[in-house]
Amino acid sequence: MSSKEVQSIAPATGKLGVMVVGLGAVATTMIAGVEAVRRGIAKPIGSLTQMGTIRLGKRTDGTSPLIKNFVPLADLNDVVFTGWDIFEDNVYEAAAHAAVLDKDLLLRLKPYLETIKPLPAVFDQHYVKRLHGTHVKTGKNKKDLANQVVEDIRNFRKTVDRVVMIWAGSTEIFLEPSAVHQSIEAFEKGLENSDEGIAPSQIYAYAALSEGVPFANGAPNLTVDTPAMIELSKKNSAPICGKDFKTGQTFMKTVLAPAFKARMLGVRGWFSTNILGNRDGEVLDEPQSFKTKEESKLGSLEYIFQPDLYPDLYKDIYHKIRIEYYPPRRDDKEAWDNIDIFGWLGYPMQIKVDFLCRDSILAAPIALDLVLFLDLAKRTPELASLGIQEWLSFYLKSPQTAEGLYPEHDLFIQSMKLKNTLRYIKGEGLITHLGLEYYD
Ligand SMILES: NC(=O)c1ccc[n+]([C@@H]2O[C@H](COP(=O)([O-])OP(=O)(O)OC[C@H]3O[C@@H](n4cnc5c(N)ncnc54)[C@H](O)[C@@H]3O)[C@@H](O)[C@H]2O)c1
Repeated sequence: MSSKEVQSIAPATGKLGVMVVGLGAVATTMIAGVEAVRRGIAKPIGSLTQMGTIRLGKRTDGTSPLIKNFVPLADLNDVVFTGWDIFEDNVYEAAAHAAVLDKDLLLRLKPYLETIKPLPAVFDQHYVKRLHGTHVKTGKNKKDLANQVVEDIRNFRKTVDRVVMIWAGSTEIFLEPSAVHQSIEAFEKGLENSDEGIAPSQIYAYAALSEGVPFANGAPNLTVDTPAMIELSKKNSAPICGKDFKTGQTFMKTVLAPAFKARMLGVRGWFSTNILGNRDGEVLDEPQSFKTKEESKLGSLEYIFQPDLYPDLYKDIYHKIRIEYYPPRRDDKEAWDNIDIFGWLGYPMQIKVDFLCRDSILAAPIALDLVLFLDLAKRTPELASLGIQEWLSFYLKSPQTAEGLYPEHDLFIQSMKLKNTLRYIKGEGLITHLGLEYYD
């Protein structure tokens, strides 16, 4: 069955250290969830790395191992968490504040969760207007702050065998790449001069990549989506991926839109609105952070529908997205979509989606899978020095791609890409779904 010679993937021996930037709703739900799974209290629902299988060979072969048995992923028992936050709350306190998980469950996990205390953060209110950080680092310039993060990484590394970093911090104001982001050299000069184009998330990312530590970006921030960070990622074999966990509404959008396109049904308008009452909702209530999120959410339809190829069906779609901060709902987001479609001879129809989801329950397994897969990428000769790991687009709202390449947003193309990447790095035949051989 083996289709190509591959170099072997280094085994996942020893401890995997996961450094989480931002110990808020998503991060604490992930950490508490991993501990609950380790203790046999709950199942890792929603996690492809923990529950997914992968078919190998023909449909008639009946060979579908669990993904975690097919590729060498870190075992959850070997995962060690640490992180940074602008508040001093330990992970138990932060999880209680986020109020995603039941009090009873949190109490059972309390002895473990309260041992994880955040390191002081790199923070500047200019980039997240709604938050007032009290547990923050000080330094003479941004380079000094980056050096302090490097020190944090080195200290943690003494206690574990490998390290991965993930941004689960707040959404920063909208920033576009500028001169400072064009090369490693320009970025390092920018750190010395505390260039305004360098937000805190970029300082963490720079520190991680400088140390050869893979970095996942769970927010829509610019962070690693710049030529300088891509160059650093490749140079130090520190895989990267971003941006923005694909959880509720965009997850649905990237399932429904490909279905309309596959059947050549037209779309006139797509109105999406959300009510959300957690801290993320409060941050996104501020126009500059909302702009960053809006850009990330808008892209998917344009790319999936390809209006240039199908002007009769998708030219001039009215696509509007709103996020309303509504405290009573806390993390239990409600996402509505009204979709105006049209069919045969142009006759109109409507679809309404009302997704009463739990934002962080959807995001936590995504964050876990991203860190486990980035750690795998770092140990895989075919992937380690590629920079952007486009095969992880499956998890992301606004996937990073190589320059000049449009992103694939269709969830099922992304899923096939992910699984074929796993087959490829193991030297297994790719699955194309052609299937003619069954009829010979
Ligand atoms: N919950 C979801 O389903 C979801 C989906 C997609 C993306 N996201 C993104 O993931 C991120 C986290 O979401 P959340 O719901 O956990 O939000 P949250 O507000 O509960 O947590 C974010 C945490 O980051 C901390 N923080 C902010 N700036 C920081 C910095 N510079 N350094 C260290 N810590 C910092 C905050 O204090 C807070 O504790 C947000 O950017 C959000 O937009 C969330």
